Amino acid sequence: MENIQNLIKRLRKELARHNALYYDKNEPEISDGEYDALVKELERLEQEYPLFASSKSPTKKVSGYASSSFKPIKHAVPMLSLDNTYSRDEAASWYERTVKKFNNSNLEFVIEPKIDGVSASLTYLDGVLIVGATRGDGETGEDITENIKTIQDIPHKLKIENPPSFFELRGEVYIDKSDFKKLNEKISYSDGQKFANPRNAASGSLRQKNPQITSERKLRFFVHSFGKIEGKHFEKQSEFLKYCQNCGFKLQSNFRICNSFGELSKFMDIMLEKRDLLNYEIDGLVIKVNSLKLQNELGSTNKSPRWAVAFKFPSKQATTKLIKIRSQVGRTGIITPSAILEPAPLSGVIISHATLHNFEEIERLNVNEGDIVLIERAGDVIPKIVKVVRKESESFFKPPKNCPSCGSEVVKENEKEVAYRCINPECPAQFRRHLIHFVSRNAMDIDGFGESVVDQLLEKKKLHKLSDIYRLSYNDFIELEFFKDRKANNLIKAIAESKKRPLSKLIFALGIRHIGEKVSEIVAKRFKTMKALFEVSLEDFSKVSEIGEVLALSLREFFENATARHVIEDLVLNGVNMTEPETSKKGSQFEGRAFVLTGELEKYSREKVSEIIKSLGGKVTSSVSKKTDYVLAGANAGSKLEKAKELDIKIIDEAEFEKLINI
Ligand code: IVH
Repeated sequence: MENIQNLIKRLRKELARHNALYYDKNEPEISDGEYDALVKELERLEQEYPLFASSKSPTKKVSGYASSSFKPIKHAVPMLSLDNTYSRDEAASWYERTVKKFNNSNLEFVIEPKIDGVSASLTYLDGVLIVGATRGDGETGEDITENIKTIQDIPHKLKIENPPSFFELRGEVYIDKSDFKKLNEKISYSDGQKFANPRNAASGSLRQKNPQITSERKLRFFVHSFGKIEGKHFEKQSEFLKYCQNCGFKLQSNFRICNSFGELSKFMDIMLEKRDLLNYEIDGLVIKVNSLKLQNELGSTNKSPRWAVAFKFPSKQATTKLIKIRSQVGRTGIITPSAILEPAPLSGVIISHATLHNFEEIERLNVNEGDIVLIERAGDVIPKIVKVVRKESESFFKPPKNCPSCGSEVVKENEKEVAYRCINPECPAQFRRHLIHFVSRNAMDIDGFGESVVDQLLEKKKLHKLSDIYRLSYNDFIELEFFKDRKANNLIKAIAESKKRPLSKLIFALGIRHIGEKVSEIVAKRFKTMKALFEVSLEDFSKVSEIGEVLALSLREFFENATARHVIEDLVLNGVNMTEPETSKKGSQFEGRAFVLTGELEKYSREKVSEIIKSLGGKVTSSVSKKTDYVLAGANAGSKLEKAKELDIKIIDEAEFEKLINI
């Protein structure tokens, strides 16, 4: 057996390495849970063998450190970490212990999201922002003042009269999931190294030597605690937060004041459910004693306060073995690799697949079948591979030479392109994806025509070209699995209905390379009929302001291609609409805009408002999502308003609505 002293030394060294990977390189190899398990193991050994204990051990101090690339800033009050709990039972024991200490079963707690970002400390002297610093090792942080000043959520001057003479706030710098996606798209466009998750993006952006880069990164800030304050006294954490709001900081609405563990537990359920709907990453919740006097009485250890605890959500990262890399053929012939994994539990579900994006990504990750990989589910349903943690194979996986569906040669059309493609127009895998896209909701929207229907019809050799969809009969459907009379009739009706879709939907449904929904709409509105599109020159496509060279070329190539024309002519023969309906100028003000109405409206009835919106080309939907453009909120609005705030959707009242419609 390994000598105990060596084991302790090895664990400390291992923890220091993981610390550097997480805080300095933004490239963790293990999840927070796995890190905490190592700390717990070390703690157990140090307690059992006090001879080998040390005040410098990672069990005794805040993890992280200040890099020498920035000026050091000594914190007026140390910036601590939080103790983590990983189950409701563990959180309940912390709660019971705390309540018992004060013999007060009615103690007030605040519970709020634990945002997965980077902690920062802001110091205001007489209301003016003087210093911004990272946490560093808890005692000394890095001077990132100029970068902090570029964050829009952070006021340079507190918007309050008689501000405290010394006001040191702590909070989390983070990036919204949607901005993170856009940032990575931008980075990959310029051939840069993408960030693995929003936390890494926030950390990397905050610790830039050039504040101009930070300013372009759409960072946000959320206040959660404070350091030293002079010239102002608060009774409660909730009072402090409200004061920060008055000073000009944004508060997020997801927090509760609770008087029992039952209430805390209910909020845990709500947030576990809501986690993926939020536009920012949270890795758990933080429970805090609300009274600052009692917080003071409880005090802190060297590492963390006793008045707060983190309730960590199931990790979004795990390590597992990559068993196989599968190559799939898409609608436009692009071959996309995906990973089949040894099943591993991740945020409450068993994961056995991960995306790999493209073959360049495989080369960048230097990954191959058999390797042990770190996977992460960051906002997306399908996890991705973050990195290889143990290389078990030679080199990286190479693109296939032949199409896995039809066996034709796979080509890379030009060196600039990342994608490998099967260029056989009759490739069955491409045709299958094409059909699935054509009938999908945002295209021809044929309700009930799912993947399994496509697969069964292909199997029965009923579909050879797109227009065959319009030749299907009741008898073709009734023999499919799970089809009865009503379902077959409904599908026939849905197919007939789809013939009336506007030209814009048909253009999108045809699956022209690079042409998404928005461009399809622009093209349809501009050229009005399919007949006209057959005649449009490359130059005329390029003249449309939203259409660049690549799109224009793709459109022209498609509409002059004999096979494509043949498909379209066949659709015409089957009665599919080939024109875009006119929208009058007045009637198109809200074209494509989605409204949600909530709360009690004073001046107008909901019916009236809906009528106005529809007459101006907009639509009214019942629930708030990322696709909502406006939420019209009246008095006593509830959860829809909350959700709109979270998703950063424009909220208007009746007066603003009147302005929009020019009343
Ligand atoms: S309270 C420890 N509240 O989590 C001092 N921290 O893992 C009191 N964090 O360093 C911190 N969300 O940067 C607090 N709602 C929240 C938080 C939060 C994120 C961060 C914080 C801390 C880290 C500990």
